[in-house]
Amino acid sequence: MTIAIGCDHAGFQLKEKIKDYLESKNLAFEDFGTFDEESVDYPDYAFYVSKAVASGKCEKGILVCGTGIGVGIAANKVPGIRAALCHDLFSAEATREHNDSNVLTMGARVVDWNIALDIVDTWLKTEFAGGRHQRRVNKITAIEDMMAIERAEEIALAIADNKKEKNGSDDNVSE
Ligand code: RB5
Repeated sequence: MTIAIGCDHAGFQLKEKIKDYLESKNLAFEDFGTFDEESVDYPDYAFYVSKAVASGKCEKGILVCGTGIGVGIAANKVPGIRAALCHDLFSAEATREHNDSNVLTMGARVVDWNIALDIVDTWLKTEFAGGRHQRRVNKITAIEDMMAIERAEEIALAIADNKKEKNGSDDNVSE
C-alpha cells in the first residue's frame, strides 16, 4: 500500500513528523508537498493527494493543514474521496469501520502531534466493517453519481442553447 501525503504551510511540520513515523513502520508513501513553510493554498495539495487516491495510484491519503478542515472540504470535492477529519482515536477507528474513509485529515494547529501519530496508526490499521455500512457508503457514491448526471445534463443543455444562439446570429448575419 502506498499512502499519498500532503499539506499546506501550516501542516508542513506535522506532515514531516508523519513521514518519519511511516518510515519507521516501513510504510510506503508518496509526498505531494508542500515542501516547506512558505505560504501556499491548501486546495492545491488536497487535490493532488485526492487525485492520487481516487485514481488508484495510492490506496489512502493523509492531509494536514492548520485545522484539517480546509483540506477536508477540498478533498471531498473529488469523486470517490471520503475524507474524514479526525482529532481523536475514536473518530479515526469509527470512520474507517463505518465510512470506509480513504483520506484522513488533521489540523496541525489543533491536535497534539503525538496523538496525531496514534490517529494515523489507528486509521491505517482499522478495516472497513462492511454490512449495513456498505449500503450507506453506496448511497454516498450514488449522490456523487446523481450530481454528475445533473451536471452533465446542464452542460449538454448549455451547449445546445449556445448552438441555437450561434445559428440564430449566423442567420442574422446572412440576412
Ligand atoms: C492557513 O492559514 C489555514 O487557513 C489553513 O491551513 C487551513 O487551516 C484551512 O482550513
